[in-house]
Amino acid sequence: MSFALRSRLPFAATAIRRQAVFSSVRWRGYATGSGKDSPLNVDQQQSKTGQQPSYGPIGVNAALKYTENDPAPSPTIFKHEFSLADRVALVSGGNRGLGLEMGLALIEAGARAVYCVDLAKEPSDEWQAVQKYAQKLASTGKTGGDGRLEYITGNVTNQDEMWQIGKQIGDKEGRLDACVAAAGILKNHTDCLTYPAAQFRQVMDVNVNGVLFTAQAAGQQMDRFGNGGSIILIASMSGSITNKDHAWTSYNSSKSAVLQMGRSMACELGPRRIRVNTLSPGHIYTNMTAAYLDTQPHLLDKWASLNPMGRIGRPDELRGVVTWLASDASTFCTGSDIIVSGGHHSW
Ligand SMILES: NC(=O)c1ccc[n+]([C@@H]2O[C@H](COP(=O)([O-])OP(=O)(O)OC[C@H]3O[C@@H](n4cnc5c(N)ncnc54)[C@H](O)[C@@H]3O)[C@@H](O)[C@H]2O)c1
Repeated sequence: MSFALRSRLPFAATAIRRQAVFSSVRWRGYATGSGKDSPLNVDQQQSKTGQQPSYGPIGVNAALKYTENDPAPSPTIFKHEFSLADRVALVSGGNRGLGLEMGLALIEAGARAVYCVDLAKEPSDEWQAVQKYAQKLASTGKTGGDGRLEYITGNVTNQDEMWQIGKQIGDKEGRLDACVAAAGILKNHTDCLTYPAAQFRQVMDVNVNGVLFTAQAAGQQMDRFGNGGSIILIASMSGSITNKDHAWTSYNSSKSAVLQMGRSMACELGPRRIRVNTLSPGHIYTNMTAAYLDTQPHLLDKWASLNPMGRIGRPDELRGVVTWLASDASTFCTGSDIIVSGGHHSW
């Protein structure tokens, strides 16, 4: 044994002994003690973190409160935290694509009503089929909610109109709890050095101003009823990365603006218990991307090869994340960007 190694050994042994003593102290204090001082104790926690959920202790708190004399416990994670029972939501761009898919997810999670706002005077056949399906689900008691998918014609670039729509929903429902700002547009490749002002402004108007006006419409009602709420701004991975070989300056810039809008609004609205997060999908097959994929078939393999999953995504792969963000399962999440890109952004 070398001198250096021998001389280090006693120190190492002492360090291990110290660690063992420290661990046993911690063990006695938190795990085997009365629980009085434990951060997991519900009363102790409430004094430090504020009001507990209205539906009572959950998780480890529920386990610690439970005694053998109580009725058999049941899981709360889907019954309460992820449940949108009695909640009301507004989804812009909800006539099709990601907006419609996310609207249905909110209904399945128990929402009382989801209002889809979109340009078309009449909702699409696809939307009407989804509405019927939602009604059917609800009528058999499977969602726990009314399952009302409602359609309102509206243009997100019109601030007055969007505020009116928000108010109309608030007046009718007496609450507005969740908002998904999904309306957005993507243009053809356009050289950044000669990008026409009118087209650039149009993209900004829908993708940036429209997202703000939608968030305002819902946020005003959340503030009005004082229940807090969750605003989910649909950004894109294109707000953080540039899509290889695609001349999408306006779209990418608009999505970066949405990321910063989400953080700014989150900081302002936190004290009012209104959470604001951005959701950034990668390549998902919808009408928007079909405009490229169905006319330039080689792009499918190319886009698929740009993420570690080796494929593009489906709209339904956003159901879980939007439900999580809209629900109490994410009550401490605000000002965040959730990227769902099949790992595209990791490369
Ligand atoms: N599909 C993807 O790969 C992808 C990836 C990242 C982000 N996104 C974003 O997700 C959102 C939804 O995209 P999608 O793929 O479902 O597209 P989509 O084109 O299928 O749907 C967009 C919807 O927004 C509506 N809309 C457009 N302008 C509007 C306006 N002024 N007022 C009201 N509604 C308006 C459209 O009518 C349409 O129904 C967009 O913000 C898009 O940028 C999509």
